[in-house]
Amino acid sequence: MRVLTEHSPHGFTITAANWVANHLKSKPQSTLALPTGQTPLSLYAELVARTKMRQMSLNSAYIFNLDEYCGLGKADPHSYSAFLHQHLIDPLNLHSKNVRLLQGDAPDLQAECQSYDAEIAHHDGIDLCILGLGTNGHIGFNEPQSAWNLRTHRVNLSEETRAVHARQSPQPWAIPTHGLTMGIQTVLEARNVLLLIAGANKRGARDALRGHADPKWPVTSLLSHPNLTIVELS
Ligand code: F6R
Repeated sequence: MRVLTEHSPHGFTITAANWVANHLKSKPQSTLALPTGQTPLSLYAELVARTKMRQMSLNSAYIFNLDEYCGLGKADPHSYSAFLHQHLIDPLNLHSKNVRLLQGDAPDLQAECQSYDAEIAHHDGIDLCILGLGTNGHIGFNEPQSAWNLRTHRVNLSEETRAVHARQSPQPWAIPTHGLTMGIQTVLEARNVLLLIAGANKRGARDALRGHADPKWPVTSLLSHPNLTIVELS
């Protein structure tokens, strides 16, 4: 595990962006798994800015997202698809043929998960999986005590996760009770994992990473990953 600790939000953003840019330089056709949420926002803005200055490009990359709320499609502004479109895919004008996002409003969610896994396999797995960290240690929507040998699947969202999301939303809305997520098995099979940690409320989950693999803290599944880099804001 490599840990890059930054002491300012700017340093955090630049270190994460440098890391991603270097990765894409070494393999422009990378398959990426990308998170939603507060933590990657400044990274995405930086990647968009660098692309506009022609310092890098995601045009040859293939993009998956990590998770989605059940019942929400791209047209719903609360969906994770809408988020990724707003903050990365649309500003970069990425071609739809290079993007596959989970469809939370698919009529058959099990078939959607299978189709997602088939697409990941078709792309020979994930080259770079970027993760945020939940206050309860979740990665993607893999909540505490979830199995670590699953690929894409439907999950119950924990009360803690739903409460955090409710607090983050400027307007109240009915946070879904279920989500779809790439499983920990898929994350562990990614050739590189970049874990972004920012926020005092992540301290407990961050501390768990100093211990041993523990299903109470899904993030600790990453302790066995051979190419894990953590960029953290202290
Ligand atoms: C979202 C995701 C989640 C978030 C985590 C942290 O796609 O995968 O695991 O990364 O909940 O969210 P923020 O960054 O909002 O603190």
